Amino acid sequence: MRQRLDEFLAAQQDRGAISADLAMVLTQLACACARISKIVAMGGIADGLGSAGQQNVQQEEQKKLDLITNEVLLQTFADSPIVAGVASEEMETIEPSSAPAKAKADAYLLLFDPLDGSSNIDVNVSVGTIFSVLPSPAAGRVLLEADFLQPGVNQVAAGYAVYGPQSMLVLTVRTGVVGFTLNPDDGVWLQTHEAILIPHETREFAINMSNMRHWASPVRRYIEGCIAGKNGHRDKDFNMRWVASMVADVHRVLMRGGVFLYPWDARDPTRPGKLRLMYEANPMALLVEQAGGKATNGRHRILEIAPGALHERVAVVLGSTEEVDEISAHHERHVD
Ligand code: AHG
Ligand code: MN
Ligand code: MN
Repeated sequence: MRQRLDEFLAAQQDRGAISADLAMVLTQLACACARISKIVAMGGIADGLGSAGQQNVQQEEQKKLDLITNEVLLQTFADSPIVAGVASEEMETIEPSSAPAKAKADAYLLLFDPLDGSSNIDVNVSVGTIFSVLPSPAAGRVLLEADFLQPGVNQVAAGYAVYGPQSMLVLTVRTGVVGFTLNPDDGVWLQTHEAILIPHETREFAINMSNMRHWASPVRRYIEGCIAGKNGHRDKDFNMRWVASMVADVHRVLMRGGVFLYPWDARDPTRPGKLRLMYEANPMALLVEQAGGKATNGRHRILEIAPGALHERVAVVLGSTEEVDEISAHHERHVD
């Protein structure tokens, strides 16, 4: 008999790994993701495809489903006494919960990318929801945006839902990484993956190759080595994958190993990378490290980066340790 998510969370609570409040937050998140899974599955039937005709704070075109899924998560936590406030890729600033401040002692902060990979939604390719849970330092006082600017090592939980051939919830509460599959018949998340671990060795890299001419030389040298395979200095040939939904690409890395890169590129030299630190890189970095992999910005551990802004971007290199280390070595050998 497969364990349900609520049974898993109760067991984590019994062993003292999580609080009852955190178990409740994750239960509510899982329920919201089950709702989003149904909405995404309806696609064009419910007129959910296409552009919303507006941009978000990142100056990126918003899809209708970006807004619809953001609203599902906002409604879930709008008056929560245990989530003091939320932050989203789709909102310029934080949204404090309406519960009275005094009721929020030992509360949490929730950050999310409500629909990751939304450029794929209109072509029916896997998308997902990414979430990060931080402790709230604002007990008894008004919540500030600055309260969210905590390094990724502070996360008490992180995970994603990927809406693909199956909808899966992949989660860590810092006791390893587990996976649940949604039963569409009854909306229950059933555990299908225990102790997900990333192989240290891989032959598969994931990067958007069309940006090659814009990369810094350490990344270009690393990828050239992968492409050269046995004909070059690597002792093996490589395969390449690029879904362009971070959730789908990182899920593949967690399921079978690999290395995922979204590095700095010269298209916008002022930007460290495309992906956002607080609600894409940090949650994925915690999952990957909990699964025995590594996550850096090419040089430094992502989880130790001190955030300066809510929507700050970061270069991302994550996955099988051998390849992440090889990429770090390329950066150390090359001082631009
Ligand atoms: P989002 O849809 O939330 O804006 O995220 C898209 C991100 C990430 O999911 C993916 O890895 C990356 O954009 C793909 O970027 P390219 O389209 O430049 O390859
Ligand atoms: Mn995203
Ligand atoms: Mn998004």
